[in-house]
Amino acid sequence: MIPRILVFAGSVKSASINAKLADAAQLTLAQLGADVTRISLLDYPMPLVDEDLKAREGIPMGAMNLGRLISANDGIFIASPEYNSSVPPLLKNVIDWVSLISEDDGRPLKPWNGRYVALGAASKGKLGGIRNLYHLRSVMMAVGTQVLTEQCAVGGAGSAFDEDGRIVDERASGMLDKTCRSLFDHCKRHGRVD
Ligand SMILES: Cc1cc2nc3c(=O)[nH]c(=O)nc-3n(C[C@H](O)[C@H](O)[C@H](O)COP(=O)(O)O)c2cc1C
Repeated sequence: MIPRILVFAGSVKSASINAKLADAAQLTLAQLGADVTRISLLDYPMPLVDEDLKAREGIPMGAMNLGRLISANDGIFIASPEYNSSVPPLLKNVIDWVSLISEDDGRPLKPWNGRYVALGAASKGKLGGIRNLYHLRSVMMAVGTQVLTEQCAVGGAGSAFDEDGRIVDERASGMLDKTCRSLFDHCKRHGRVD
């Protein structure tokens, strides 16, 4: 079975360093043999989570489309910026909306349930956004995903990638390889954990 893995960054900034990390993860996962889908959250617009809005109008189209895509994959790689030591609002909002999905056209659907998730972060600072990764890990556990132990924090990310999009620093590059390998292996061995 070929693992299906979704890759995205928790940033839609032009020249996002986390988009670069997501690109590097996409490359690594594809080389391992995964069927990789790389998306931008720009293509899944949604308002701020609002339970009154949900009661009136249901789940926004962007969140529903993303939920369906998450559900169609075995694993997910998320490259997230760190904002004030924690999860950036764009990403938290996306996670929260998708967690509110319970059905699709009358059929039960809990997109996050049982998905393997690997986490990465890129920051220009020395810590590479690692403080956020522990907050994000906790959030992803709360929504029912299987978060892998291996993770990847890339510090000094302003100059961390070469022209081919690969991570220059051996230690950081090794961390990404290990994280992607773990995600690939878990998905291949177990598929999803519904
Ligand atoms: C509101 C805000 C808070 C931030 N807090 C942190 C932080 O706690 N740690 C850190 O390493 N960088 C922090 N940054 C800097 C981001 O790491 C930097 O903007 C990075 O480029 C964001 O990732 P992106 O390029 O993928 O969007 C912060 C940026 C913003 C806008």
